[in-house]
Amino acid sequence: MPSVLLIGTGRLAFHLGHALKGSGRVLAGVAGRNAEHAATLATELGCRSFPLGAALPPADLRILAVSDDAIGAVARNLPDDGTPLIHLSGTKSLDLLVPHAHRGVLWPIQSFTAGGPPVDLGGVPLVIDAGDDGTLLRVRSMAEGISRHVVHLPFALRQRLHLSAVMASNFPVFLLREAERLLAAHGIDPKLLHPLWRQSAGNALRDADAAVSGPARRGDGGTIHRHLELLAGEPELRRAYEALSNLILHTYHPESRGRQDL
Ligand SMILES: NC(=O)c1ccc[n+]([C@@H]2O[C@H](COP(=O)([O-])OP(=O)(O)OC[C@H]3O[C@@H](n4cnc5c(N)ncnc54)[C@H](OP(=O)(O)O)[C@@H]3O)[C@@H](O)[C@H]2O)c1
Repeated sequence: MPSVLLIGTGRLAFHLGHALKGSGRVLAGVAGRNAEHAATLATELGCRSFPLGAALPPADLRILAVSDDAIGAVARNLPDDGTPLIHLSGTKSLDLLVPHAHRGVLWPIQSFTAGGPPVDLGGVPLVIDAGDDGTLLRVRSMAEGISRHVVHLPFALRQRLHLSAVMASNFPVFLLREAERLLAAHGIDPKLLHPLWRQSAGNALRDADAAVSGPARRGDGGTIHRHLELLAGEPELRRAYEALSNLILHTYHPESRGRQDL
């Protein structure tokens, strides 16, 4: 089984490291700029740790599991010995890995947090791409070892998928956080929203269009105006509420388009 060197010690390095190990891959080691972080993850995965900048062990694939903003600099500082170098970002081009000759990407469409047990990646879609056929084959083989959903997309489509992933996950989660904050500020238990959120998520997965509900969907301008008054002390959130309400209103009540917005 081909071996993998993990470069980076954060959230995805943890979950991917476990998934790779579980798929039978040999972990050649964990390399990181922070020796303590590298040693902790290496112990967790049962392999050796290496400081970034020193000589690294040979491997069949190197995975760059560092923050998006660090990918380019870390890649440039890593000597190209012909080993394929893979990053994990949904938004970054393969060109960021230049001057490495064999470049690839493996982007899991999932949100990983710190702490907790390793996530089972078996059902997580993995988007792959590579600059040459040989590297694509290797990335695909690694990806198919850990997930049942592997899809090859060029960069332009990966970026579109990333945009939709942000809209479908990050925005609703942030809105829940804000809704909870408002309730807590008024001494109301934020958890009262949780059954609603779970039910809405289930409804949306069955049919997102049919699941859209609320005052804007009904065209209930009176309720929307009352809500905007209640948000008077939260100007940014008020603008976001207004913009989203107008978007829903214009989608389901197209006749409202020409009229003055809320
Ligand atoms: N987390 C997710 O939900 C998720 C999902 C899909 C894809 N990804 C992708 O996975 C990659 C890693 O993300 P992550 O969430 O695992 O990040 P993370 O938990 O914040 O960890 C970032 C890692 O990058 C290292 N790092 C940061 N700047 C560095 C530099 N200048 N030089 C060397 N190492 C540096 C950090 O080292 P220190 O430990 O020393 O700080 C840490 O090991 C990113 O490309 C991200 O887009 C993440």
